[in-house]
Amino acid sequence: MNDKVIHEEIHEKIYEEILRIENVKVHFSKRSNLFSRGGKGVVKAVDGVTLSMNAREIYGIVGESGSGKTTLGRAVIGLIPISSGEITVFDAKICAGAHRRSPLYRTRVQMIFQDPDSSLNPNMTVARLLAEPILVNRLLPQKLLPERLKELLDMVDLPRTFLSRYPHQMSGGQKQRVAVARAMATDPRLIIADEPTSALDVSVQAQILNLLMDLKEKKGVSILFISHNMAVVRHISDRVSVMQAGRIVETASAEKLFAYPREDYTKKLLRAIPKIRRFPCPAMAPA
Ligand SMILES: Nc1ncnc2c1ncn2[C@@H]1O[C@H](COP(=O)(O)OP(=O)(O)O)[C@@H](O)[C@H]1O
Ligand SMILES: [Mg+2]
Repeated sequence: MNDKVIHEEIHEKIYEEILRIENVKVHFSKRSNLFSRGGKGVVKAVDGVTLSMNAREIYGIVGESGSGKTTLGRAVIGLIPISSGEITVFDAKICAGAHRRSPLYRTRVQMIFQDPDSSLNPNMTVARLLAEPILVNRLLPQKLLPERLKELLDMVDLPRTFLSRYPHQMSGGQKQRVAVARAMATDPRLIIADEPTSALDVSVQAQILNLLMDLKEKKGVSILFISHNMAVVRHISDRVSVMQAGRIVETASAEKLFAYPREDYTKKLLRAIPKIRRFPCPAMAPA
């Protein structure tokens, strides 16, 4: 094999497309409250989003509260049915009208939520929390499970003795590490992280962000990182899309977006970042 062929193969590996969202809409029937948006009895929470994400990429989605970020993330993992369009993760697909995700899709895409207290069952030990997705999806024979559980704890820098702990015996940061390990348990291609640090103390936020960046580098997992916090998104993302009212208004590399925002809406979001500089890293500045 000559150098050129090798080079092309490497190039292909790095830029392999992992997620494609094509003209996806998620419309809800209108709630009867003052804050609903959209006409004719529907809330257009996601209103025609198209984006493509590469392997080994952290892709940030920012926007004000209510712009549709969570709905988009939940649509990608299949928790909310899409009204139209198509979502492809690697080699598995979700289309409008599909009510069930395929087993393949369930292992390929995982999610980390904002609040580990509501995402981790308080009655389960860490061992059970981590074993569940592996057993449900029949990924490993029982005898290989203990070794895998230890590996998962190592991955998120928690001591192996934590396997016997319950959620209430851990700090917020430790619980979120367990949630990350649980998401990694099925060896996913893509993790949707919806405001994964917003419920944590400022001092712990940067540790979780660094852990996610580490997993991207070492395990090659891609992360769709959803946040209203521009400073956090800037710290972690390779590329960023800005969402407003269910649509993407601007996409650029994180560097470019923050240095040269094009859209007025993006400029407005950037002006809202506190200018305090006494924090050692941008991720630690308050939201
Ligand atoms: N299940 C639902 N039924 C009706 N409207 C919803 C539902 N979920 C979200 N919405 C509405 O969709 C819009 C987008 O919400 P969301 O995706 O949570 O935004 P974000 O995560 O950016 O704050 C909001 O107007 C919200 O009220
Ligand atoms: Mg949200």
